Amino acid sequence: MKVFINKNIPEIGIKLLQEKEISLTINPTKNVLSREEFIKICQEHDALLNVGTNKLDEDFFEQCPNLKGIALFSVGFDAVNIPSANSRKIPVGNTPDVLSRATSDIAFLLMQSVARKSFFNHKRILNDNWGSFDPLANLGQELYGKTLGIFGLGRIGFEMAKKCKAAFGMNIIYHNRSHNKEAEKELDAKYVDFETLLTESDVLSIHSNYSEENNEIFNATTFAKMKSNAIFINTARGKFQNEDDLFHALTNNIIWGAGLDVTNPEPMKSDNPLLSLPNCCVLPHIGSATYEARNGMAVCAAQNIIALFEDKKMPFCVNEEVYN
Ligand code: DGY
Repeated sequence: MKVFINKNIPEIGIKLLQEKEISLTINPTKNVLSREEFIKICQEHDALLNVGTNKLDEDFFEQCPNLKGIALFSVGFDAVNIPSANSRKIPVGNTPDVLSRATSDIAFLLMQSVARKSFFNHKRILNDNWGSFDPLANLGQELYGKTLGIFGLGRIGFEMAKKCKAAFGMNIIYHNRSHNKEAEKELDAKYVDFETLLTESDVLSIHSNYSEENNEIFNATTFAKMKSNAIFINTARGKFQNEDDLFHALTNNIIWGAGLDVTNPEPMKSDNPLLSLPNCCVLPHIGSATYEARNGMAVCAAQNIIALFEDKKMPFCVNEEVYN
């Protein structure tokens, strides 16, 4: 079995695969391959360890009939057309858990950065604009006892809620497809409908899987329902937000601020107006960018490939139905 790894991953994952004598093709260039190049190499392999946002859609699967399995180097699987994989009985694996702490750290960091306008204040120094002490200028807000609303309370949302509760005694409300009993018990989290999440959150943080039905669900209509002191945080997928509407909400005091680790589209251009706002903090999708998380992701992805190679169930499979 031959595996194509389209971008190098931490050594720990490569070693696991080599120990099993799995034949690997690792894209030697740092460059992103064109779709044509990517598909051409996939056609010559039995499995793909996919790093990044290549669209694995119906056309991809049609063009790569030799593929027997896909291991994603991500927890999100929105780039894969799961029905297309299912119809060909192709298991798709992801990397859950191992990046929950790192990603929620970034959500927590952005929340505080926005509350204290820290990116903007840093820019003041760079622009020779430190100025003198002004009791009325550059004021932020404190988060103690405020309400954190989580959109999608899974593993990452749970970690974010834990931090917010421990650090600031925040009340936790959440909206999800199903109840998260563990969060309700451990964190006294309250399940609410989407409307209530919008109207009651002081901080609203997205931790959900993205799917088409939630495309730009955060838009002019939904921002208008949020509190004027609300902080909007997105570390999940940029396509949850309409960025023109977000800009309007931020510049018209409809919401207080926004912290984004993901943008719509990615990468964000340097002249994007959101970057010039004092109440918006943007990072370039670094949620899982720690040694610990990336090593963990490499191990999960390798374990998924090894299972495929050994004709076993992938340990982290997003479409287990293919095994039925
Ligand atoms: C994921 O795992 O889905 C992240 O967005 C990639 O870092």
